[in-house]
Amino acid sequence: MADRVILAYSGGLDTSVMVPWIKDKYNLDVVTFTADLGQGEDIEAIRQKALKTGAVEAVAVDARNLFVDCFVFPALMAGALYEGRYPLATALGRPLIAKLMVDAAREFKASAVAHGCTGKGNDQVRFDVTFQTLAPDLRIIAPVREWTMSRPDALAFAKKHNIPVDAKPESPFSVDQNLWGRSCEAGVLEDPWHEPPEAAYAWTTNPAKAPDAAEELEIEFEHGKPTALDGQVLDGAALIEQLNQVGGRHGIGRIDHVENRLVGIKSRELYEAPAASILHTAHRSLESLCLTKQAARFKTMISQEYADLIYNGLWFSAFHQDLFAFVASNQRYVGGTVRVRCYKGAVTVIGRKSEHSLYSKGLATYDGQAGGDQFDQAAAQGFIRLWGLGQQTQARQQLLKGGRGFELPGLSQG
Ligand code: ARG
Repeated sequence: MADRVILAYSGGLDTSVMVPWIKDKYNLDVVTFTADLGQGEDIEAIRQKALKTGAVEAVAVDARNLFVDCFVFPALMAGALYEGRYPLATALGRPLIAKLMVDAAREFKASAVAHGCTGKGNDQVRFDVTFQTLAPDLRIIAPVREWTMSRPDALAFAKKHNIPVDAKPESPFSVDQNLWGRSCEAGVLEDPWHEPPEAAYAWTTNPAKAPDAAEELEIEFEHGKPTALDGQVLDGAALIEQLNQVGGRHGIGRIDHVENRLVGIKSRELYEAPAASILHTAHRSLESLCLTKQAARFKTMISQEYADLIYNGLWFSAFHQDLFAFVASNQRYVGGTVRVRCYKGAVTVIGRKSEHSLYSKGLATYDGQAGGDQFDQAAAQGFIRLWGLGQQTQARQQLLKGGRGFELPGLSQG
């Protein structure tokens, strides 16, 4: 029996061509691996296609809840948005797929793993770093980094090897999708000045054509994780699927971003992430009630660090475990309900409440007449005197000395 390789298999042309190609070139029997992360494809049909294409075994697993509970929700709790915008759907999927492939490699006694990533992207880094970390003994094969096949070459190769090719024409874009969002790149999107054509979008209605009637939702959170929608307790995958439907209908979550890839290039990416946009917005709003000023300010740094480590393929690091320990602790009082309105491309928070809320109406109210004001306004005077004391002292001793006034930085007074 030949040695085996576990191939990350999507059922598309490239990874199908890889089945006989790897067998020819490396003399390895190919076991394909396909995970359902909510990309909306029939993984059993993909599994069958793999077998027809020459795989000796084909594995398909439903990893949706694992994906949500162990990858998506931690990222949401952390507020992780790469460069402040991208909710990291693709980047979160890769380490999970790679981890499950390592498990499959052990089960099928494979000596290698393979994927269809190009040599220019981030995804190759995420796969390879994960393999390298969890299973340094496995050989990594990345055919697209090695071969020089054009699309017509690949089609000819497929024909020669009796690989079924989808009748529908291949998308003019490179697309990756899972529950947390859809990533679209290449083709006409490569010109960052060119407005994305409607054909580049698949999950969202054009906001201009979205319904005239707004839709309101109530989202409940516990410890920073969403738990229920409109009073109905849902598991994570179902909750996200539902929000993708509602948000998509209202044109929410279109993100057009020129981002900095890890490999040193900028690329124009188009994302659709209705559920992620709604949940990040709602979550942030709940944090504004439940976190202290210090905790919230500090967390913005953690969010950025967390997003970078996801983007850069370092999910399985001790640093991540350390950051997550902070996040989990920081989120322990982030619970309550957020009311949002979806309307023509925008998600707007219109209300929030929490039993752990730090907002006190008694302290904030201007309605002194009603006798509800608990804030001691007289105490403000002494507070301000001490608050400004350092600056006042400096002015007297330095800035105002010698008849000089204040110079604004950059505005010299001659
Ligand atoms: N730029 C995004 C990222 O690095 C999306 C990558 C999308 N992958 C793809 N095969 N289209 O996470």
